[in-house]
Amino acid sequence: MRIHAVCALALAGAVACILPAASAEIPAWAFPVSPPGPPAPPENGVQIKLPGSTSAFTLTQILDRFKVVDWYPGEHPKMPPVVVNGRNPMRACAYCHMPSGAGRPENAALTGLTPNYFKQQVHNFRDGHRQGSEANRNPQNLMLEISKLVTDAEIDEAAAYYAKIKPVSYVRVVESATAPKTFVTGSILARLPEGGTEPLGNRIVEVPETVERFEHRDSKTPFTAYVPIGSIKRGADMAATGANGKTIPCTICHGPDLKGLGDVPPIAGRSPSFIVRQLFDMQSGKRGGTAALMQPVVAKLDVADMVALAAYAASLQP
Ligand code: HEC
Ligand code: HEC
Repeated sequence: MRIHAVCALALAGAVACILPAASAEIPAWAFPVSPPGPPAPPENGVQIKLPGSTSAFTLTQILDRFKVVDWYPGEHPKMPPVVVNGRNPMRACAYCHMPSGAGRPENAALTGLTPNYFKQQVHNFRDGHRQGSEANRNPQNLMLEISKLVTDAEIDEAAAYYAKIKPVSYVRVVESATAPKTFVTGSILARLPEGGTEPLGNRIVEVPETVERFEHRDSKTPFTAYVPIGSIKRGADMAATGANGKTIPCTICHGPDLKGLGDVPPIAGRSPSFIVRQLFDMQSGKRGGTAALMQPVVAKLDVADMVALAAYAASLQP
């Protein structure tokens, strides 16, 4: 899909065009859309287990959007109802963002955010400021629906809950000339079962180590993000210096270690595909509202720059 130049007929009669910035083509790898799949296999009653958890659940329990399975109940505070149960038809926050708030590449980590920022973002979704560049990306569309159903009191409860949990990253960032061949499942990339590699190019290929743990909604599923060779250092330089005016040093607003500053959110240790998606959405104008502050930051970036910044930020401790 292409983003068209926005043209306006100025008063004087001249046509003023705001040209889309360098990267008009949506980086599909950062916005995976699941093909319509077969329906979930019928329940066979098997008790599924995970390494590191003493719990066991059936597939039906794992897929329950209104009673989220809790693999590691001892590792987080008690979840408020909106987080664990939602309010039918509004899905529980933890179904996608996990009880730990670690999130997954197709959504967002919710730890390390101030309650102010958290609430503002849900309002931004609700008010049409976070549409996302890929109209067919299911997780985004579900978040948009939820933002219209959730009450302010519920947002406050969810924000206060996730603010109590220390951010953790389960993503290992690896520089490589090649990446595994992938397919899209659950709106993320996963290794093709038959294996194989291909040139990475200017992409980030973020895949779970074991797709079963992802499917079983294990918040500790380890991911590997393949990033281009040299991208981490290039991103570090851009983040610190702004690359001679191409962008603005990220550290000024996100803090010296990119762990966030006041209500400016952390970017250290967050999913690199999430980061690219945000930068691209801000540039394409599909993420606006309070994100206007990021406009001068993203205006001149191309996808390779976004990849380098995301590779660097994701490689840091959250
Ligand atoms: C169906 C999955 C799903 C559910 C359920 C869900 N979200 Fe989200 N949420 C998302 C996705 C996807 C994004 C990121 C969209 C993007 O890429 O910009 C997101 C982003 C967010 C963000 C922005 C985080 C950031 O740093 O940018 C907040 C805050 C948030 N969700 C709060 C909530 C709350 C509160 C609930 C429960 C009431 C909830 N979400 C339920 C999918 C979900
Ligand atoms: C002038 C201050 C400023 C600078 C400089 C800045 N940011 Fe931001 N950034 C913000 C603010 C404010 C937000 C929150 C936007 C919103 O409210 O939607 C943000 C949000 C983000 C987000 C989305 C995070 C989330 O939780 O959804 C990413 C990713 C990001 N910035 C990356 C960067 C990178 C990379 C750089 C450096 C190249 C950078 N920013 C430089 C102010 C800044």
